[in-house]
Amino acid sequence: MPFKNDLFLRAFTDEVLPRPPIWLMRQAGRYLPEYRATRARAGSFLDLCHSPSFCAEVLLQPLDRYDLDAAILFSDILTVPDAMGLGLSFGVGEGPRFAHPLRDEAAVKALAVPDMVRLQYVFDAVAECKRALTSNGVQRVPLIGFSGSPFTLACYMIEGGGSGDGFPITRRMLLSRPDLFQRVLDINVDAVTAYLRGQVQAGADALMLFDTWGGVLAPRLYRDYSLAPMQRIVARLNAEFPSLPVIMFSRGAAHSFDAMAARPAGAAGAPLGLGVDWQSDLASARAAVGPGVTLQGNFDPLLLTTDEATIRRELAAALAGFDPRRRYIANLGHGITPDADPALVGFLVNELRTLPV
Ligand code: CP3
Repeated sequence: MPFKNDLFLRAFTDEVLPRPPIWLMRQAGRYLPEYRATRARAGSFLDLCHSPSFCAEVLLQPLDRYDLDAAILFSDILTVPDAMGLGLSFGVGEGPRFAHPLRDEAAVKALAVPDMVRLQYVFDAVAECKRALTSNGVQRVPLIGFSGSPFTLACYMIEGGGSGDGFPITRRMLLSRPDLFQRVLDINVDAVTAYLRGQVQAGADALMLFDTWGGVLAPRLYRDYSLAPMQRIVARLNAEFPSLPVIMFSRGAAHSFDAMAARPAGAAGAPLGLGVDWQSDLASARAAVGPGVTLQGNFDPLLLTTDEATIRRELAAALAGFDPRRRYIANLGHGITPDADPALVGFLVNELRTLPV
């Protein structure tokens, strides 16, 4: 399928681009009044996720307001554990909750890779988003599919919800019952691989693994329990879809950028992207990973609650000593917050489109 704008995909090649492609994590979401209106019509956030046509509607909202170079599937990472039968809910104004968290050996032993039929609504949403992006056989921008990483999913599955304090129940299981913890990860590796394969078959042009919580682990534990399972998934996807870009985003794991940059055996040239969080530094990340890996990030999402002069100053500082035209995707260092000012989002996007390079 031809693209009207394929800048995002070209950031995974050796080409020197006229400007970096831009998209924003959580670009569709609560900071947009039109998103809140659609969510109200859908009933709830989960109802929205279950409706392919509503998903496509909110996917387009940020693209219609801003000059963005990629679209991301509208869904959530917790669809996979929900399909495993853990019972996902979102209380009003609260984070996610699981009715049946994995708290003991029996629960872990009963866990299994879900039948992908239970996630067909997500694959249908991918196909609907793709249709919504396409007119006269030309696709507006590439469509990114995504999943949580095996470790980050395990955090929610074991803890039963979010955690203000580094997922203590999860880390205790990892330390005291590494056998049980590894079983959860192994199931998540198989489930996430099948889930992402289904998204590619439904039309995703690139994939991203959100490892929001890998940074709660010590570096050596991060590499064994968070990075290694992600790399098993990437190796399988690279073997099946050799030209499909895959981005790994581990928050708080700048200590392991060099290990993240390693390609699976037999996939030396596979298009690999790494997300850089706002607590890291683009120039240091480039030094750690070398020239052949695409970096994505890393502006502080809180900039979108400040003012134009602050944004302009911080963009220049974050990009100092870094070449934004080679293997780089401009993005935030984590998701947009609900209090972001939509006008400042537009300002940020325009500043990035007109970077002096
Ligand atoms: O980026 C996008 O625009 C695509 C959509 C997307 C959502 N969630 C929609 C969403 C993506 C890529 C995610 C990923 C996700 N979900 C992550 C990893 C990325 C990250 O931000 O670290 C995590 C940890 C989750 C789990 C999750 N979903 C939490 C903790 C919450 C509640 C906290 C919060 O920010 O509200 C959600 C809900 C959620 N996912 C919303 C949206 C738009 C808000 C729901 C609402 O409309 O009320």
